[in-house]
Amino acid sequence: MAPESERLIDTVRGCTFDDFLFRPQYSVLERRDPATIDLSCRFSEHITLKRPIVSANMDTVTRAPMAIVQAEEGGLGIIDRGFKSGDIEPQVREVEKVKRTQHVIIRDPYAVTPEMTLGQAIAIMRRSRVGTLVVVDAERRLRGLLTERDVRFVPTGETKVSSRMTPVDALVTGVGELTLDQAERLMLERKVKKLPLVDAAGRLLGLITSRDIVRQARLPFASRDAHGRLLVGAAIGAKGDYLERAAELLKAGVDVIVIDIAHGHSVVMERAIAAFRARFGATELVAGNVATGEGVRFLVDRGVNAVKIGIGPGGGCTTRITTSFGVPQIQALVECRLAAGVTEPVPLIADGGVRRHGAILEALLFGGDTVMLGSMFAGTEETPGEIVQKPVVLPEAQRTVKVPFKVLRGMASIQAIRDRLDVEDADSVDIEALGAEGTEVSVPARGSVRPIVQDILRHLSSSVSYGGVTSLTELRERFWDDPFRYLQKLSASAKRESYER
Ligand code: XMP
Repeated sequence: MAPESERLIDTVRGCTFDDFLFRPQYSVLERRDPATIDLSCRFSEHITLKRPIVSANMDTVTRAPMAIVQAEEGGLGIIDRGFKSGDIEPQVREVEKVKRTQHVIIRDPYAVTPEMTLGQAIAIMRRSRVGTLVVVDAERRLRGLLTERDVRFVPTGETKVSSRMTPVDALVTGVGELTLDQAERLMLERKVKKLPLVDAAGRLLGLITSRDIVRQARLPFASRDAHGRLLVGAAIGAKGDYLERAAELLKAGVDVIVIDIAHGHSVVMERAIAAFRARFGATELVAGNVATGEGVRFLVDRGVNAVKIGIGPGGGCTTRITTSFGVPQIQALVECRLAAGVTEPVPLIADGGVRRHGAILEALLFGGDTVMLGSMFAGTEETPGEIVQKPVVLPEAQRTVKVPFKVLRGMASIQAIRDRLDVEDADSVDIEALGAEGTEVSVPARGSVRPIVQDILRHLSSSVSYGGVTSLTELRERFWDDPFRYLQKLSASAKRESYER
């Protein structure tokens, strides 16, 4: 190992986020605007994101609403596997909801047939709150469009859709899978707000609306697949129904599978990766968690496309307390980064332990290509779970008020394990004996997660500016070229001065 790397490992041994600050550099940026600063990163070997934020696969953090916001803001959500064993469909449904979130092409627009009555068409418009219906025949060939305006002021009773629709010959249509740019140009040229897409035989492929194009333009950083759909990941285990679960998730269009177990450097993981690769070939696969160089090499040698790093730093996690195993997260990230290689390595996901925005930059410089956040998003509108009103004592006012709370729990907490088990299993298994490594806490309910993500990105952009560079990638490269130009280890009093408020 190069002497500089040894010095770095010595410096970070036993350390975590609050043990460091970075020395400010001459800034070359006029503005610290996330819209103009490049924060792009690699999530895994074949997935690049414009923002390095990933929401944790925890059953109190990431389901479809969270994953949608994360992908719209340029990051990624990983749907948790906290559903009962054998109960695969609910997780698949969450993935489908993300993949069906429409911004560009509506693949399955509301449709009527020419023979239906206007009364029936109006009922569909009212129910779906959609003002334009596509008209298709039994073979799904496009026959026309019917809008709210077409049905206004006409006797609706038995009048047929065919008598009021704009017929296909009078419509502007796109043939084949147009790119968004081609569709936009065509709509501008021909001054239409709706563009049905058909195949060579005239069968409906989808519908593009100008409203959706505008909405898409408002999300310039969103993480999308080749068809313009939002990206989403999903977690599976390493035993039981995990292969079946993966097969169904992939069928639903999930973009990446994460084999997530507490101790990823294990015989159980080795078997799971081999079986996964045998069945699903080169499907994008992330595995974790590990926290040592040996752990990373073990997973990389088995052909995973990214590795998740973190044993015990998580907010809802008690592994270190209950087992005395784990590695302080900054030490873990540096060791794992050196093991994975510094240039063009397998991407690492820094998972857990981030309690303040500044720590995100540390996670991203010391080793993470992306950072996975759980408790930072807890209590937001997009997290699953009910709001409960809890009494809170206000000592100054000498009274009690009801405050809305949501639950955040570790995925290895007794409660989360109990929910994953079938009822019969719960009777036959001594749950305590499973060895819980997580806790459940109440977190004050707050608004949407979107402004929190946007705040994080603003702070990250400021960090890039303080770092004297113009992009996150450049900052990482500079740091690894000469870590001690940036790194300052803090004394106990400097930690107090920095982080105690
Ligand atoms: P933060 O600190 O962002 O961390 O809340 C999220 C990560 O914590 C991990 N996690 C657990 N680890 N027992 C554990 O050992 C648990 O019950 C548990 N629940 C979550 C997980 O890696 C997550 O992404």
